[in-house]
Amino acid sequence: MSSLQLVFPLVLIFNLIFIIQHYSCDAQDLKRCRFDAIYQLGDSISDTGNSIVEIPQAYHARFPYGQTINKATGRPSDGLLMIDYIAQSAGLPLLEPYENPNSSFSHGVDFSVAGVTASTVKTLIKWHIPLPYSNNSLSVQVKWLKKHLSTFCNVKKDCHTKLKSALFMVGTIGANDYDFAFFQGKSIEDVKKVMVPRVMQTIKTAIQKVIDYGAFRVVVPGIFQLGCTPSLLTAFSSNNSVYDARGCLKDYNDFFMYHNNHLQVALQKIRKKNPHVRIIYGDIYGALQWVLDNLSNLGFKSFKKSCCGIGGKFNFSPSLEKMCGAHGVPVCSNPKEHVFWDGGHFSHQASKYLSKWLIKDILPKLHCST
Ligand SMILES: *[C@@H]1O[C@H](CO)[C@@H](O)[C@H](O)[C@H]1NC(C)=O
Ligand SMILES: *[C@@H]1O[C@H](CO)[C@@H](O)[C@H](O)[C@H]1NC(C)=O
Ligand SMILES: *[C@@H]1O[C@H](CO)[C@@H](O)[C@H](O)[C@H]1NC(C)=O
Ligand SMILES: *[C@@H]1O[C@H](CO)[C@@H](O)[C@H](O)[C@H]1NC(C)=O
Repeated sequence: MSSLQLVFPLVLIFNLIFIIQHYSCDAQDLKRCRFDAIYQLGDSISDTGNSIVEIPQAYHARFPYGQTINKATGRPSDGLLMIDYIAQSAGLPLLEPYENPNSSFSHGVDFSVAGVTASTVKTLIKWHIPLPYSNNSLSVQVKWLKKHLSTFCNVKKDCHTKLKSALFMVGTIGANDYDFAFFQGKSIEDVKKVMVPRVMQTIKTAIQKVIDYGAFRVVVPGIFQLGCTPSLLTAFSSNNSVYDARGCLKDYNDFFMYHNNHLQVALQKIRKKNPHVRIIYGDIYGALQWVLDNLSNLGFKSFKKSCCGIGGKFNFSPSLEKMCGAHGVPVCSNPKEHVFWDGGHFSHQASKYLSKWLIKDILPKLHCST
């Protein structure tokens, strides 16, 4: 058992206080769904330790990553991720990473890998987008899922029965496809025209496969307002930028909403084809909007500056020597007051609130009895 579990009671007590203070009339969690397992596919937003098995020298394999939970697990955060809070809310142990041979998979598996794209390496090369981190992709994770499931169920009917109480999370995925394209200098219009339809098709294919393997409840998170991240703000702020009321890059956020709108249309089609399956959109964009609307109420003092980082207006520099985790790069004194831990990832505290909102939003749509 990992020493991470030592922090559970503390976190639980904290959550409890929060629930009593803010949610006394609508306290609800995923326990009533009686999930027995969670299977998560996705990118860094839900990577609990896969990418550091592939790249052990990655910064997020070491402190200060994980400092809030006193363990560097490979999560790109100072602590827990949304999927961790979701597992806790369901009364399950935290998901362990598929690629780590020491993991145990008694209540699900995390297949997410930081840096991963929806599109395959081949497709990205066709678009002249080189892959900076991982040559993994959504279809690789779907293959891993299939391989894993074959260890405990075999014929279709058997799998459907055994996965009746499992929750499948497909995403966040696709954000890296777009980010890599933008960093290659591709325009938002080009990315809309060329990439979005293809990324949608890839996500749709993955969801249909997950359903064919026996999934009965599938949550598909969209992409959040990456135009508010220190990383994109640093890279794409110019004198011609249009900012929204919160000082985020409006054109980029509109683009991510465009992806989300198309994703929701795609989900509608998948629902029609699979009427027995609950397919739910995970509105991370809405969750972050709520956090931004309530920043000070929730105890945040800073949201466009990373807690861990150095340089520029957003406490972020794109060079490897100045990123969070590099030698001499400072960490803010109170990560709880920051929405972003590093250039592109949420803090432990932000993940807590985002997942709270998300759980409240998806729970009625899951149609769990009682
Ligand atoms: C698995 O556990 C062994 C023994 O504790 C350890 O040496 C090894 O580094 C671990 N592997 C990974 C990928 O974490
Ligand atoms: C993918 O990356 C892994 C680890 O870096 C490497 O071992 C493997 O050969 C790569 N595969 C392809 C198809 O490039
Ligand atoms: C923006 O405008 C200021 C003042 O005119 C100028 O100094 C700066 O170089 C410009 N920045 C960019 C990115 O064009
Ligand atoms: C969040 O903001 C909304 C809209 O401004 C407000 O109605 C709500 O009470 C706030 N919630 C919390 C928990 O502060």
